Amino acid sequence: MPRVLLTGGCGFIGTHTVVVLLRSGYSITVVDNLINSSLKSIERVREIAKDEGIENVDLEVEVCDMCDLDAFEKVFSKYGPSGFLSCIHFAGLKAVGESMSLPLLYYQNNLINTMNLLTLMEKYSCHRIVFSSSATVYGAAEVMPITESTRVGEGITNAYGRTKYMIEGILGDFQKSKEKNETPWSVTILRYFNPVGAHPSGKIGEDPSGPPNNLMPYVSQVAVGRREFLSVFGNDYDTPDGTGVRDYIHVMDLAEGHLSAIKFMDKKPGVYEVFNLGTGNGYSVLDMVRAMEKASGRKIEYKIVERRPGDIATCYANAVKAKEEMGWEAKLGLNEMCRDLWAWQSNNPKGFE
Ligand code: WQD
Repeated sequence: MPRVLLTGGCGFIGTHTVVVLLRSGYSITVVDNLINSSLKSIERVREIAKDEGIENVDLEVEVCDMCDLDAFEKVFSKYGPSGFLSCIHFAGLKAVGESMSLPLLYYQNNLINTMNLLTLMEKYSCHRIVFSSSATVYGAAEVMPITESTRVGEGITNAYGRTKYMIEGILGDFQKSKEKNETPWSVTILRYFNPVGAHPSGKIGEDPSGPPNNLMPYVSQVAVGRREFLSVFGNDYDTPDGTGVRDYIHVMDLAEGHLSAIKFMDKKPGVYEVFNLGTGNGYSVLDMVRAMEKASGRKIEYKIVERRPGDIATCYANAVKAKEEMGWEAKLGLNEMCRDLWAWQSNNPKGFE
Protein backbone atom coordinates (compact mmCIF):
# COMPACT_ATOMS: atom_id res chain seq x y z
CA MET A 1 0.00 0.00 0.00
CA PRO A 2 1.15 3.57 -0.56
CA ARG A 3 3.23 5.32 2.06
CA VAL A 4 1.96 8.50 3.75
CA LEU A 5 4.15 11.00 5.59
CA LEU A 6 2.68 12.47 8.82
CA THR A 7 4.56 15.47 10.17
CA GLY A 8 3.90 15.86 13.91
CA GLY A 9 2.44 12.35 13.88
CA CYS A 10 3.40 11.65 17.51
CA GLY A 11 0.95 14.28 18.75
CA PHE A 12 -2.70 14.09 19.82
CA ILE A 13 -4.45 14.30 16.42
CA GLY A 14 -1.50 12.67 14.64
CA THR A 15 -1.49 9.43 16.65
CA HIS A 16 -5.25 8.98 16.25
CA THR A 17 -4.85 9.54 12.50
CA VAL A 18 -2.05 6.93 12.41
CA VAL A 19 -4.49 4.38 13.89
CA VAL A 20 -7.12 5.16 11.25
CA LEU A 21 -4.61 5.01 8.36
CA LEU A 22 -3.13 1.72 9.64
CA ARG A 23 -6.64 0.24 9.65
CA SER A 24 -6.79 1.11 5.92
CA GLY A 25 -3.44 -0.56 5.25
CA TYR A 26 -1.28 2.50 4.52
CA SER A 27 2.45 2.41 5.25
CA ILE A 28 3.28 5.33 7.50
CA THR A 29 6.32 7.46 8.17
CA VAL A 30 6.01 9.89 11.07
CA VAL A 31 8.43 12.79 11.37
CA ASP A 32 8.38 14.59 14.72
CA ASN A 33 10.79 16.67 16.81
CA LEU A 34 9.12 15.38 20.03
CA ILE A 35 9.01 18.94 21.44
CA ASN A 36 5.35 18.43 22.40
CA SER A 37 5.04 14.64 22.26
CA SER A 38 6.69 11.36 23.17
CA LEU A 39 7.65 8.15 21.38
CA LYS A 40 5.53 6.39 24.05
CA SER A 41 2.47 7.46 22.08
CA ILE A 42 3.65 5.45 19.07
CA GLU A 43 4.33 2.40 21.26
CA ARG A 44 0.70 2.66 22.39
CA VAL A 45 -0.44 2.97 18.73
CA ARG A 46 1.36 -0.32 18.03
CA GLU A 47 -0.48 -1.91 20.98
CA ILE A 48 -3.80 -0.64 19.62
CA ALA A 49 -2.98 -1.99 16.14
CA LYS A 50 -2.24 -5.41 17.69
CA ASP A 51 -5.41 -5.34 19.80
CA GLU A 52 -7.44 -4.41 16.68
CA GLY A 53 -5.87 -7.27 14.69
CA ILE A 54 -4.32 -4.94 12.12
CA GLU A 55 -1.79 -6.98 10.11
CA ASN A 56 1.46 -6.00 8.35
CA VAL A 57 1.84 -2.77 10.33
CA ASP A 58 4.42 -0.64 8.53
CA LEU A 59 4.99 2.33 10.84
CA GLU A 60 8.27 4.18 11.42
CA VAL A 61 9.22 7.36 13.27
CA GLU A 62 11.98 9.71 12.18
CA VAL A 63 12.87 12.15 14.97
CA CYS A 64 14.12 15.35 13.38
CA ASP A 65 13.76 19.12 13.33
CA MET A 66 11.90 19.92 10.11
CA CYS A 67 13.48 23.38 10.18
CA ASP A 68 16.84 21.69 9.48
CA LEU A 69 16.45 21.06 5.75
CA ASP A 70 19.39 18.67 5.40
CA ALA A 71 18.24 16.52 8.32
CA PHE A 72 14.65 16.61 7.10
CA GLU A 73 15.73 15.60 3.56
CA LYS A 74 16.96 12.25 4.89
CA VAL A 75 13.33 11.34 5.60
CA PHE A 76 12.56 11.74 1.90
CA SER A 77 15.81 10.40 0.36
CA LYS A 78 15.26 7.08 2.17
CA TYR A 79 12.39 6.33 -0.23
CA GLY A 80 13.47 8.39 -3.24
CA PRO A 81 11.19 10.03 -5.84
CA SER A 82 7.46 9.33 -5.33
CA GLY A 83 8.28 7.48 -2.10
CA PHE A 84 5.32 9.19 -0.43
CA LEU A 85 1.84 9.26 -2.01
CA SER A 86 0.68 12.11 0.27
CA CYS A 87 1.64 14.10 3.32
CA ILE A 88 -0.50 15.11 6.30
CA HIS A 89 1.04 18.18 7.90
CA PHE A 90 0.29 18.32 11.65
CA ALA A 91 3.67 19.60 12.89
CA GLY A 92 3.63 23.03 14.50
CA LEU A 93 3.73 24.83 17.82
CA LYS A 94 0.13 25.33 18.96
CA ALA A 95 -0.14 27.02 22.36
CA VAL A 96 -2.22 30.15 21.86
CA GLY A 97 -0.91 31.96 24.94
CA GLU A 98 2.74 31.03 24.34
CA SER A 99 2.45 32.27 20.75
CA MET A 100 1.70 35.76 22.08
CA SER A 101 4.83 35.85 24.22
CA LEU A 102 7.07 34.13 21.64
CA PRO A 103 5.64 35.15 18.24
CA LEU A 104 8.96 34.91 16.39
CA LEU A 105 9.44 31.32 17.56
CA TYR A 106 5.98 30.49 16.23
CA TYR A 107 6.49 32.21 12.86
CA GLN A 108 9.96 30.69 12.40
CA ASN A 109 9.02 27.16 13.44
CA ASN A 110 5.58 26.85 11.85
CA LEU A 111 6.37 28.65 8.59
CA ILE A 112 9.91 27.35 7.99
CA ASN A 113 8.91 23.75 8.67
CA THR A 114 6.09 24.15 6.15
CA MET A 115 8.30 25.69 3.46
CA ASN A 116 10.95 23.00 3.98
CA LEU A 117 8.24 20.38 3.66
CA LEU A 118 7.00 21.82 0.36
CA THR A 119 10.57 22.08 -0.97
CA LEU A 120 11.21 18.42 -0.23
CA MET A 121 7.80 17.24 -1.42
CA GLU A 122 8.49 18.92 -4.76
CA LYS A 123 12.02 17.52 -4.98
CA TYR A 124 10.77 14.00 -4.24
CA SER A 125 7.60 14.17 -6.38
CA CYS A 126 5.02 14.07 -3.61
CA HIS A 127 2.19 16.37 -4.77
CA ARG A 128 -0.61 15.86 -2.26
CA ILE A 129 -0.85 17.56 1.10
CA VAL A 130 -3.49 17.66 3.83
CA PHE A 131 -3.01 20.58 6.21
CA SER A 132 -4.07 20.63 9.85
CA SER A 133 -5.69 24.06 10.08
CA SER A 134 -8.04 25.47 12.68
CA ALA A 135 -11.33 27.32 13.09
CA THR A 136 -9.18 30.00 14.68
CA VAL A 137 -8.55 31.36 11.17
CA TYR A 138 -12.16 32.62 11.21
CA GLY A 139 -11.26 35.02 14.03
CA ALA A 140 -14.31 36.52 15.73
CA ALA A 141 -16.93 35.32 13.24
CA GLU A 142 -20.36 36.83 13.99
CA VAL A 143 -22.65 34.64 11.90
CA MET A 144 -23.15 31.02 13.02
CA PRO A 145 -22.79 28.34 11.89
CA ILE A 146 -19.43 29.05 10.26
CA THR A 147 -19.09 27.92 6.64
CA GLU A 148 -15.89 27.58 4.59
CA SER A 149 -16.78 30.84 2.82
CA THR A 150 -16.93 32.75 6.10
CA ARG A 151 -14.26 35.47 5.97
CA VAL A 152 -10.86 34.40 7.30
CA GLY A 153 -7.82 36.32 8.52
CA GLU A 154 -9.73 39.10 10.26
CA GLY A 155 -9.76 39.33 14.05
CA ILE A 156 -7.24 36.54 14.66
CA THR A 157 -6.04 37.32 18.17
CA ASN A 158 -2.81 35.33 18.37
CA ALA A 159 0.35 34.44 16.46
CA TYR A 160 -0.50 30.73 16.51
CA GLY A 161 -3.78 31.34 14.67
CA ARG A 162 -2.06 33.72 12.27
CA THR A 163 0.51 31.06 11.35
CA LYS A 164 -2.39 28.74 10.44
CA TYR A 165 -3.90 31.46 8.25
CA MET A 166 -0.52 32.28 6.65
CA ILE A 167 0.23 28.61 5.93
CA GLU A 168 -3.15 28.26 4.20
CA GLY A 169 -2.03 31.18 2.01
CA ILE A 170 1.42 29.67 1.33
CA LEU A 171 -0.22 26.40 0.28
CA GLY A 172 -2.70 28.24 -1.93
CA ASP A 173 -0.03 30.24 -3.75
CA PHE A 174 2.18 27.16 -4.11
CA GLN A 175 -0.66 25.04 -5.50
CA LYS A 176 -1.61 27.78 -7.97
CA SER A 177 2.00 28.05 -9.19
CA LYS A 178 1.91 24.35 -10.13
CA GLU A 179 -1.44 24.34 -11.93
CA LYS A 180 0.13 24.07 -15.38
CA ASN A 181 2.50 21.28 -14.32
CA GLU A 182 2.15 17.80 -15.74
CA THR A 183 1.28 16.64 -12.19
CA PRO A 184 -0.64 19.47 -10.51
CA TRP A 185 -0.66 19.68 -6.72
CA SER A 186 -3.58 18.72 -4.49
CA VAL A 187 -4.06 20.72 -1.28
CA THR A 188 -6.76 19.86 1.25
CA ILE A 189 -7.15 22.24 4.18
CA LEU A 190 -8.96 20.81 7.22
CA ARG A 191 -10.19 23.46 9.67
CA TYR A 192 -10.67 21.70 13.00
CA PHE A 193 -13.16 23.00 15.51
CA ASN A 194 -12.52 21.74 19.05
CA PRO A 195 -10.94 18.26 19.11
CA VAL A 196 -11.62 16.27 22.31
CA GLY A 197 -11.76 12.67 23.49
CA ALA A 198 -9.44 9.74 22.80
CA HIS A 199 -9.24 6.33 21.17
CA PRO A 200 -11.78 4.15 23.08
CA SER A 201 -8.98 1.91 24.36
CA GLY A 202 -7.78 4.78 26.55
CA LYS A 203 -4.18 4.02 25.45
CA ILE A 204 -3.63 7.33 23.62
CA GLY A 205 -5.00 10.80 24.22
CA GLU A 206 -4.21 14.48 24.66
CA ASP A 207 -1.20 14.96 26.91
CA PRO A 208 -0.45 18.68 27.23
CA SER A 209 2.82 19.61 28.92
CA GLY A 210 2.08 21.86 31.92
CA PRO A 211 -1.35 23.27 32.84
CA PRO A 212 -3.70 22.62 29.91
CA ASN A 213 -4.75 25.69 27.90
CA ASN A 214 -7.79 23.93 26.47
CA LEU A 215 -11.00 23.19 28.35
CA MET A 216 -11.40 19.43 28.24
CA PRO A 217 -7.88 18.33 29.19
CA TYR A 218 -8.24 20.68 32.17
CA VAL A 219 -11.68 19.30 33.06
CA SER A 220 -10.41 15.70 32.88
CA GLN A 221 -7.41 16.55 35.07
CA VAL A 222 -9.79 17.99 37.69
CA ALA A 223 -11.91 14.83 37.45
CA VAL A 224 -8.88 12.59 38.02
CA GLY A 225 -7.69 14.73 40.94
CA ARG A 226 -4.64 16.23 39.25
CA ARG A 227 -6.09 19.80 39.41
CA GLU A 228 -8.16 21.26 42.24
CA PHE A 229 -10.83 23.07 40.23
CA LEU A 230 -11.67 24.45 36.81
CA SER A 231 -11.64 28.21 36.24
CA VAL A 232 -14.61 29.00 34.03
CA PHE A 233 -13.57 31.98 31.92
CA GLY A 234 -16.70 34.12 32.22
CA ASN A 235 -20.41 33.39 32.51
CA ASP A 236 -21.66 36.68 31.11
CA TYR A 237 -21.56 35.82 27.40
CA ASP A 238 -24.67 36.02 25.25
CA THR A 239 -25.17 32.24 25.38
CA PRO A 240 -27.86 30.03 27.01
CA ASP A 241 -26.00 29.71 30.31
CA GLY A 242 -23.56 32.60 29.86
CA THR A 243 -20.49 30.41 29.32
CA GLY A 244 -18.62 29.98 26.02
CA VAL A 245 -20.14 27.70 23.37
CA ARG A 246 -17.92 25.61 21.09
CA ASP A 247 -18.20 22.80 18.52
CA TYR A 248 -16.46 19.86 20.21
CA ILE A 249 -15.56 16.99 17.87
CA HIS A 250 -14.37 13.50 18.82
CA VAL A 251 -10.72 13.04 17.85
CA MET A 252 -11.58 9.69 16.19
CA ASP A 253 -14.06 11.49 13.92
CA LEU A 254 -11.37 14.04 13.19
CA ALA A 255 -8.89 11.26 12.35
CA GLU A 256 -11.41 9.72 9.94
CA GLY A 257 -11.64 13.13 8.27
CA HIS A 258 -7.96 12.85 7.34
CA LEU A 259 -8.49 9.45 5.71
CA SER A 260 -11.40 10.97 3.79
CA ALA A 261 -9.12 13.82 2.67
CA ILE A 262 -6.46 11.37 1.38
CA LYS A 263 -9.15 9.52 -0.58
CA PHE A 264 -10.67 12.81 -1.79
CA MET A 265 -7.33 13.74 -3.39
CA ASP A 266 -7.13 10.33 -5.05
CA LYS A 267 -10.50 10.97 -6.66
CA LYS A 268 -10.11 14.70 -7.36
CA PRO A 269 -6.40 15.55 -7.83
CA GLY A 270 -5.05 18.99 -8.64
CA VAL A 271 -7.39 21.15 -6.53
CA TYR A 272 -7.14 23.37 -3.43
CA GLU A 273 -10.10 22.65 -1.15
CA VAL A 274 -11.04 23.74 2.37
CA PHE A 275 -13.27 21.74 4.72
CA ASN A 276 -14.64 22.45 8.19
CA LEU A 277 -14.31 19.43 10.48
CA GLY A 278 -16.91 19.97 13.18
CA THR A 279 -20.21 18.45 14.30
CA GLY A 280 -22.47 21.47 13.73
CA ASN A 281 -23.46 21.36 17.41
CA GLY A 282 -22.43 23.88 20.06
CA TYR A 283 -22.01 23.03 23.74
CA SER A 284 -21.26 25.42 26.61
CA VAL A 285 -18.50 25.09 29.16
CA LEU A 286 -21.03 24.00 31.80
CA ASP A 287 -22.57 21.48 29.38
CA MET A 288 -19.09 19.95 29.05
CA VAL A 289 -18.52 19.92 32.81
CA ARG A 290 -21.83 18.12 33.36
CA ALA A 291 -21.11 15.63 30.55
CA MET A 292 -17.70 14.84 32.07
CA GLU A 293 -19.19 14.41 35.55
CA LYS A 294 -21.64 11.90 34.06
CA ALA A 295 -18.89 10.00 32.21
CA SER A 296 -16.43 9.93 35.12
CA GLY A 297 -18.82 9.68 38.07
CA ARG A 298 -16.67 12.40 39.67
CA LYS A 299 -17.70 15.87 40.91
CA ILE A 300 -15.88 18.56 38.96
CA GLU A 301 -15.35 21.66 41.07
CA TYR A 302 -15.28 24.99 39.23
CA LYS A 303 -15.10 28.69 39.90
CA ILE A 304 -16.42 31.45 37.64
CA VAL A 305 -13.60 33.91 36.89
CA GLU A 306 -12.95 36.75 34.44
CA ARG A 307 -13.27 36.22 30.70
CA ARG A 308 -10.07 35.10 28.91
CA PRO A 309 -8.82 37.86 26.57
CA GLY A 310 -9.48 37.02 22.90
CA ASP A 311 -12.26 34.52 23.61
CA ILE A 312 -15.49 34.72 21.62
CA ALA A 313 -18.93 33.77 22.89
CA THR A 314 -19.96 31.17 20.32
CA CYS A 315 -18.25 29.17 17.59
CA TYR A 316 -19.64 26.13 15.76
CA ALA A 317 -19.34 24.69 12.26
CA ASN A 318 -21.46 24.16 9.21
CA ALA A 319 -19.88 20.86 8.12
CA VAL A 320 -22.15 20.19 5.13
CA LYS A 321 -19.37 20.63 2.54
CA ALA A 322 -17.25 17.81 4.03
CA LYS A 323 -20.29 15.53 3.93
CA GLU A 324 -21.23 16.44 0.36
CA GLU A 325 -17.73 16.44 -1.16
CA MET A 326 -15.76 13.98 0.98
CA GLY A 327 -18.59 11.83 2.30
CA TRP A 328 -17.34 12.55 5.83
CA GLU A 329 -19.40 13.51 8.86
CA ALA A 330 -18.90 13.33 12.61
CA LYS A 331 -20.58 10.25 14.04
CA LEU A 332 -19.67 10.35 17.75
CA GLY A 333 -21.53 12.48 20.30
CA LEU A 334 -20.81 14.13 23.63
CA ASN A 335 -21.23 10.95 25.66
CA GLU A 336 -18.62 9.10 23.56
CA MET A 337 -16.27 12.10 23.69
CA CYS A 338 -16.40 12.20 27.51
CA ARG A 339 -16.46 8.39 27.93
CA ASP A 340 -13.31 8.01 25.85
CA LEU A 341 -11.60 11.06 27.37
CA TRP A 342 -12.21 9.54 30.81
CA ALA A 343 -10.83 6.15 29.64
CA TRP A 344 -7.60 7.92 28.65
CA GLN A 345 -7.32 10.19 31.70
CA SER A 346 -8.28 7.62 34.33
CA ASN A 347 -5.81 5.08 32.90
CA ASN A 348 -3.06 7.68 32.48
CA PRO A 349 -3.49 10.23 35.30
CA LYS A 350 -0.10 11.73 34.46
CA GLY A 351 -0.29 11.29 30.69
CA PHE A 352 2.40 9.29 28.88
CA GLU A 353 5.07 10.24 31.52
C1 WQD B 1 -13.12 26.39 24.99
C2 WQD B 1 -14.06 27.11 25.92
C3 WQD B 1 -13.06 29.00 27.03
C4 WQD B 1 -10.22 26.62 29.38
C5 WQD B 1 -8.61 26.83 21.16
C6 WQD B 1 -7.70 27.45 20.16
C7 WQD B 1 -7.99 26.91 18.80
C8 WQD B 1 -7.97 25.40 18.81
C9 WQD B 1 -8.92 24.86 19.86
C10 WQD B 1 -5.90 24.49 18.05
C11 WQD B 1 -13.93 28.63 25.83
C12 WQD B 1 -13.44 27.93 28.04
C13 WQD B 1 -11.21 27.01 28.50
C14 WQD B 1 -10.41 26.80 30.78
C15 WQD B 1 -12.57 27.75 30.33
N1 WQD B 1 -6.68 24.92 19.06
N2 WQD B 1 -12.37 27.57 28.97
N3 WQD B 1 -11.59 27.37 31.20
O1 WQD B 1 -10.45 28.70 22.83
O2 WQD B 1 -12.30 27.49 21.55
O3 WQD B 1 -9.93 27.17 20.88
O4 WQD B 1 -8.50 25.42 21.10
O5 WQD B 1 -6.17 24.55 16.88
O6 WQD B 1 -7.02 27.39 17.91
O7 WQD B 1 -7.96 28.84 20.13
O8 WQD B 1 -10.75 26.20 23.01
O9 WQD B 1 -10.63 24.66 24.93
O10 WQD B 1 -9.31 26.85 25.03
O11 WQD B 1 -11.78 26.91 25.22
O12 WQD B 1 -13.63 28.27 30.74
O13 WQD B 1 -9.53 26.47 31.63
O14 WQD B 1 -13.74 26.78 27.27
O15 WQD B 1 -13.35 30.31 27.52
O16 WQD B 1 -15.24 29.20 26.00
P1 WQD B 1 -10.92 27.50 22.11
P2 WQD B 1 -10.53 26.12 24.59
